[in-house]
Amino acid sequence: MNISGNCKMLGNSPEFTALLRSLDVAAATDVAVILLGESGTGKELLARQIHRNSTRADAPFVAINCAALPEGLAESEFFGHVKGAFTGAISDNPGRISQAEGGTLFLDEVGEMSLDIQAKLLRFLESGEFQPVGSLKQRHADVRLIAATNADLREKVEQGSFREDLYYRLNIVPFHVPPLRERSGDVALLMKDITRDLAARHQLAPPVYTKAAMKCLESYAWPGNVRELRNLCERMLILFSGREIDEGNLPREIRHQHQSRWTFSLPDTGIKLEEVEKELLQQALEKTGGNQSKAARILGLTRYAFIYRLKKYQLQP
Ligand SMILES: Nc1ncnc2c1ncn2[C@@H]1O[C@H](COP(=O)(O)OP(=O)(O)OP(=O)(O)O)[C@@H](O)[C@H]1O
Ligand SMILES: [Mg+2]
Repeated sequence: MNISGNCKMLGNSPEFTALLRSLDVAAATDVAVILLGESGTGKELLARQIHRNSTRADAPFVAINCAALPEGLAESEFFGHVKGAFTGAISDNPGRISQAEGGTLFLDEVGEMSLDIQAKLLRFLESGEFQPVGSLKQRHADVRLIAATNADLREKVEQGSFREDLYYRLNIVPFHVPPLRERSGDVALLMKDITRDLAARHQLAPPVYTKAAMKCLESYAWPGNVRELRNLCERMLILFSGREIDEGNLPREIRHQHQSRWTFSLPDTGIKLEEVEKELLQQALEKTGGNQSKAARILGLTRYAFIYRLKKYQLQP
């Protein structure tokens, strides 16, 4: 599976298909979209799909990983430079924005952009104009912006490392990409489809996972999401091609998490579920000194889902 090609988007859970439906609607418009979600949830794949389903599909899709830009070269990477603009600038470079003309510019890990570039990008987003390094001329480009981040941008705004005006500009249509553990039923489906594709590609017989192994995989938290699942499928295929995989054959971290999972037994007298939920929300806030992102994480919730619940129960953060 090559993410630069036409990779199949796998997932059948209501959580994921609802997202795909909304993304299709957004794709048909020309608005800026931001994809929020943990690492490996498929943000880049989804960004490419938005582009393919948009009126800009025949123009380029250009991705910039804002976390991997060498300091000092970021500006020329975005906006280009003219020959002689700095040592080593031996010829004109159009920059990524120009390369994306008519198409889509994908800003991955947008939260890692320096404040200087943020200011220049904002100016471009507002006027459509930018200035290549070393040039006095304004250039114009028509691009659609899709951004992605696994960071909490709101928190970055509060810390002063992300501009508030840019935050609002990017956050017009935010989409939350659910982590794998919140996609009901998708682990089994993805395991099957990815294993089948990889088996065909490596010309190996697929392994067979036992019920116990599947149960363990389905209750695992998948911190690396689909990327982790894909890597596991490949590793298990190579090691167990044509054989059975039982719980004991799974990597230790997966088995371990399964065994140490906290289980709650419902008392015969019953409980009030909402009271228990409220109590856990409060405890999570106390444990993390009121840090909503951390509190959400230890409950296995996204920050948005956490805040939604706080509001629902009228709890003070
Ligand atoms: N729904 C999906 N169906 C099939 N493959 C998927 C899906 N989601 C993600 N993948 C695969 O998982 C890997 C990670 O996806 P991707 O790079 O899009 O994630 P990401 O959210 O951009 O991660 P990061 O935040 O680390 O950059 C890729 O190999 C991609 O092809
Ligand atoms: Mg990515």
